[in-house]
Amino acid sequence: MIDIGTGDGLFVYERARANPNKFYIGIDANARPLEKVSEKIHRNPAKGGLRNVLFLQAAIEDLPSELDEVADEVHIHFPWGSLLRVVAAGDETGLHNLRRICAPEGVLEIIMGLDPERDRSETERLGLKPLSTYYVDQELNSRYQAAGFEILERGVLPQSERATLQTSWAKRLRGNKARTLIYIVANAINMKT
Ligand SMILES: C[S@@+](CC[C@H](N)C(=O)[O-])C[C@H]1O[C@@H](n2cnc3c(N)ncnc32)[C@H](O)[C@@H]1O
Repeated sequence: MIDIGTGDGLFVYERARANPNKFYIGIDANARPLEKVSEKIHRNPAKGGLRNVLFLQAAIEDLPSELDEVADEVHIHFPWGSLLRVVAAGDETGLHNLRRICAPEGVLEIIMGLDPERDRSETERLGLKPLSTYYVDQELNSRYQAAGFEILERGVLPQSERATLQTSWAKRLRGNKARTLIYIVANAINMKT
């Protein structure tokens, strides 16, 4: 399982701890938030060390070829900056990079949460249209399809499910009801030649 834009790696760390027989990779463009958790996984297992996880500094624009076709699951939670542009505007190169790291029939799960007021400057900077399920259907569906993903499900994440999201940003944003969380679940499909 690969988590892109993993931040402090909490989601990956907790999943890896719960599932010792699966391997987890957390990736972020920024090395700083990865530092603590990268140190922690190398401790003695009794002190939080884990052998089934690694963290990697890389941007979605530049994922190493060693990751090609390795992921049964790719997750992206609360993307920001150029990562947000890839998934929310359907940037062709970025989506192809995501497709490249998916194993055949791998699953891509994305959760985006934007507050129309507080995040206005970032969405304007990135040239994003307002996010909605209608927008996913009308604009993203075909772009994801062109990059080799079929969107299987999309919707607004209910308030009740927010509490189950084990990421630091999910915790930070829990009280903010103005922020609609849009999720997308897609699977990797073979491209027609
Ligand atoms: C709002 S944080 C979310 C962190 C984590 N997923 C969470 O839910 O707690 C967005 C993260 O995306 C990362 N990011 C932004 N652009 C990226 C890119 N082009 N490639 C990889 N990561 C990126 C940022 O460094 C940041 O850690």
